[in-house]
Amino acid sequence: MCDFSEEAATFPQSGRTRQIYPSPVGWIGTGQPDIEADLLVKLGPDTVMMMGDNPALPRMPEKPRLMDFFKYRFGDITVRHLLSSGLKALESGQDEKVVMACLLHDISNGCLIRTDHGYWGAQMIAPYVSEEIAWAVRYHQPLRYFADEAAGYEYPESYHRFFGADYVPPEYIRRDADYARNHRWYMTSRLVTIYDYYFFEDVGPVDPEIFTDIIGRNFREPEEGLGFDSSPTAHMWRTMIWPNNFL
Ligand SMILES: [Fe+2]
Ligand SMILES: [Fe+2]
Repeated sequence: MCDFSEEAATFPQSGRTRQIYPSPVGWIGTGQPDIEADLLVKLGPDTVMMMGDNPALPRMPEKPRLMDFFKYRFGDITVRHLLSSGLKALESGQDEKVVMACLLHDISNGCLIRTDHGYWGAQMIAPYVSEEIAWAVRYHQPLRYFADEAAGYEYPESYHRFFGADYVPPEYIRRDADYARNHRWYMTSRLVTIYDYYFFEDVGPVDPEIFTDIIGRNFREPEEGLGFDSSPTAHMWRTMIWPNNFL
């Protein structure tokens, strides 16, 4: 029998055990066992694979906007890092495009994927920001590994701790940093690396509202909501709305 109640519409699998099979990219190589076969064996009339809204996560608005992802999906450290990076750029009197790139530079780490985060993040935001902002987000990743003393950027001390003092970035990172260094938008991306502050530095809580106008002028929120327009990256936003979908 169909249940047309509001709850059933929001949580179409309500009343059943919703099993979650975490995306392989999140656990492969970590030593966590592959549980797919075990979950499939347990399927039955009352046990299904998770699809749609997960009651364990905050409900997203029907037409999500950029800041809803900060509020309802992104991890705490990423949110603090992005807001403080944007704030530092703003306080330094940087152009809005730089502030916006700082605010979005690690967006992929919030709830999607960390590997090659600059590249994923740039792709995800590209339909909604200027080409230069997406470019700056993409290239902040390779540029982070290379000092530019004239611009006031040193190799990050945190990278020594993250990766070990003898870490050498791979060839594609060196190639892309070289390309970026000779590009007309180099300084936009370099400024992102300069304001790439980590959460443990001395920045108090930042009110996301201070970015409302800048977002309004530099981020085209789709009428249908992020994830539901027909942009080439809508699926990436949907993946963050429903990160536990089986398919
Ligand atoms: Fe980054
Ligand atoms: Fe960062």
